[in-house]
Amino acid sequence: MPAIRPYRVADRDRIRHICLLTARGGGDATGVYSDDSLMPEVFALPYVEYAPDLAFVVADDDDLAVGYVLGVADTAAFVDWYAREWAPGFRERHPSPGPVTAAAPTFTEAELLEAGGDPERMRIAELDDYPAHLHIDLLPELQGLGFGRRLIDVLRAALAERGVPALHLGMDPANTSARAFYDRLGFHELPSSRPEAPLLGIATRD
Ligand SMILES: CC(C)(COP(=O)(O)OP(=O)(O)OC[C@H]1O[C@@H](n2cnc3c(N)ncnc32)[C@H](O)[C@@H]1OP(=O)(O)O)[C@@H](O)C(=O)NCCC(=O)NCCS
Repeated sequence: MPAIRPYRVADRDRIRHICLLTARGGGDATGVYSDDSLMPEVFALPYVEYAPDLAFVVADDDDLAVGYVLGVADTAAFVDWYAREWAPGFRERHPSPGPVTAAAPTFTEAELLEAGGDPERMRIAELDDYPAHLHIDLLPELQGLGFGRRLIDVLRAALAERGVPALHLGMDPANTSARAFYDRLGFHELPSSRPEAPLLGIATRD
């Protein structure tokens, strides 16, 4: 039976793998960009580096991570850390976009490189009220079994314990399935949400 447990450093490569396999509007992003490490380097790995204690995984019977939720409690502090510790290395590893692939992603590689090198994009207008943010991804075989809801509950409880009132997330508007999930869990749109860049929020306590 898969089970939720805290993240361990040994899960890092699995986090990278899960991110890649779910990064194209919820589906497999392998080969979409010239470098498969791009998506994980922007949307997953900085999180486990910065806040491993707010990362939780669903582990299968062999204790392999097959899903995760990654959070930061204070997005503004994360932005500062990212600018100092993560963005310089990211820009060095990925100085310019590679050749365009046949796949048609929501974000071009140039946009992804810009996002990865510029954490200020995370400083949303609602940070005072919704200081935390998250990313959640489950491999296809784990979807639809209630683990997404449970992972969000685990993260909300961990944040509430630290006195964090609410959290937010940004999402790919093409991912209509994830949107239905967030709506079902009670997330609501934040005032600065735009159709091309939806922003959703929820309190950490019901
Ligand atoms: C989106 C995702 C995290 C949801 O997790 P999940 O484990 O599949 O969802 P759950 O089984 O926990 O569903 C929780 C509730 O949402 C509802 N729900 C989930 N997906 C839904 C959908 N596509 N349409 C309607 N309702 C949906 C479920 O019916 C369930 O309702 P209930 O608890 O009241 O019975 C998961 O499917 C996933 O990782 N998808 C691929 C990656 C991705 O899109 N990540 C999000 C990026 S923003």
